[in-house]
Amino acid sequence: MSLKITLARSAPARAGLTAVAVTTDQVESAPHGVDWTVLQARGFEGKAGQIELVAGPTGPLAMVGMGDASAVTASTFRQAGVAIARASTRRRAIAVDLLAAAPDALAVTDAIQALVEGIELGAYEYLRHKSAPKPSELATVTVVAPAGRGPSAAARRGQVIAAGVNLARDLVNEPGGSMTPTAFAERATTVAKASGITVKVLDLAGIRKARLGGILGVNRGSEQEPRFVQLTYKPTGTPTGSIALVGKGVTFDSGGLSIKTAQGMMTMKCDMAGAAAVLGAMSVLGEIGAKAQVSAYLPLTDNMTGGDATRPGDVLTMRNGKTVEVLNTDAEGRLILADALSLASEPKPDVIVDLATLTGAAMAALGPQFAAVLGNDDTWIQQVLAAGRTASERLWQLPLPSEYRSMLDSTVADMKNIGGPLAGALTAGLFLQEFVGEGIKWAHLDIAGPAFAEAGFDEHPKGATGFGVRTLVELVSSYTRPT
Ligand code: BES
Ligand code: MN
Ligand code: ZN
Repeated sequence: MSLKITLARSAPARAGLTAVAVTTDQVESAPHGVDWTVLQARGFEGKAGQIELVAGPTGPLAMVGMGDASAVTASTFRQAGVAIARASTRRRAIAVDLLAAAPDALAVTDAIQALVEGIELGAYEYLRHKSAPKPSELATVTVVAPAGRGPSAAARRGQVIAAGVNLARDLVNEPGGSMTPTAFAERATTVAKASGITVKVLDLAGIRKARLGGILGVNRGSEQEPRFVQLTYKPTGTPTGSIALVGKGVTFDSGGLSIKTAQGMMTMKCDMAGAAAVLGAMSVLGEIGAKAQVSAYLPLTDNMTGGDATRPGDVLTMRNGKTVEVLNTDAEGRLILADALSLASEPKPDVIVDLATLTGAAMAALGPQFAAVLGNDDTWIQQVLAAGRTASERLWQLPLPSEYRSMLDSTVADMKNIGGPLAGALTAGLFLQEFVGEGIKWAHLDIAGPAFAEAGFDEHPKGATGFGVRTLVELVSSYTRPT
């Protein structure tokens, strides 16, 4: 459920609450007619992220800290939007009048987009399983902005992108017992139909027929059938390029027979966050008028311990014919991604990106706020990193060293699915690389850290973050095939 957000040239006379910007250099000079001593008493210094509700000369004001005036960026506006939404849950309607704080170097449309994204992301709540939910009352937001198509398109874009992020959050927050592969595929079908993209779902028989041995191997211990969802977005007009998106869709990861600890399993409903982020991004491509052709490949299964589960030592034959000795059933993500990367490679797209909650090692290296980026082509990796910067999602490159490929050598099969105790995020990447078609540029995002926030950060409450949606949307909308 999203908000009604409209633009107006000035704040409505009876807005109820108006949010206004205060930079650190303004705070002592009675900003918006509010005495410094009042603000000081509340500890408000105009720092980014701070917000205080006060009585203004003509009505209630939310004083929104923007930090140092010269350091205001799009992400300051996003952060401000989040703070405003979270402070306004007991108001039906508010006005937001912040754009005076946008410095000359920041396009006002970028500020508007980020602000609206922030408001929608900050208003997100997951209340489905509360018996007496008390949802936010905020319904209507009037954003004070210049008239014209640019500003309204920017607001629309911000709102649509945030809806994609919030869709991914909903999918990930839903428990593994109900967000089964079948349920995910049904949601994907509904979303596809609503957003004008085509969808094809392979059921168990279809997955067998396509010889997706990695997915079948992981699914072997489960009572739930696997699914493979394929989505296609075709732009109007000649596509500027072709992109394949792949997302890990393990709807619950118990570890399989190489079982996880109770502690390690607690957040494992999040193991389909890659697939959710890809679906979230696909859902907005039509609305934002993306010009590339985009195909998505979502392998869906849970990883359970049933009586016929894959045993450590079993050998799987993957879609591309390569054989894998499964020595740890908890390294399951790479097995299902392998088949998906093979399928994604077959129509020879220009580029592939995959998103996966793949390794604890990536989280150990980069912590809860950064995703790792690895890949086989440095220009493509740089484009991914640039998209992350524009979208304000934290990405950091890790190497993909061929020197370590031998860590995956198996005595009985072409490779094993684990590389040993060292460089776990890198050997996972090297494993995936074996399934990317010749000559296709590929980048892999290991989102194990930021997909699920055990403590909230930035615009994210505790739980699912929808991480990756914004980067993917930016990457797709800025993509043109190099000539
Ligand atoms: N889904 C996990 C990775 C993960 C861990 C995601 C923590 C989010 C938070 C993945 O399937 C996994 O279990 N990876 C193993 C691989 C190992 C057995 C080689 C890991 O990282 O421990
Ligand atoms: Mn696992
Ligand atoms: Zn997993």
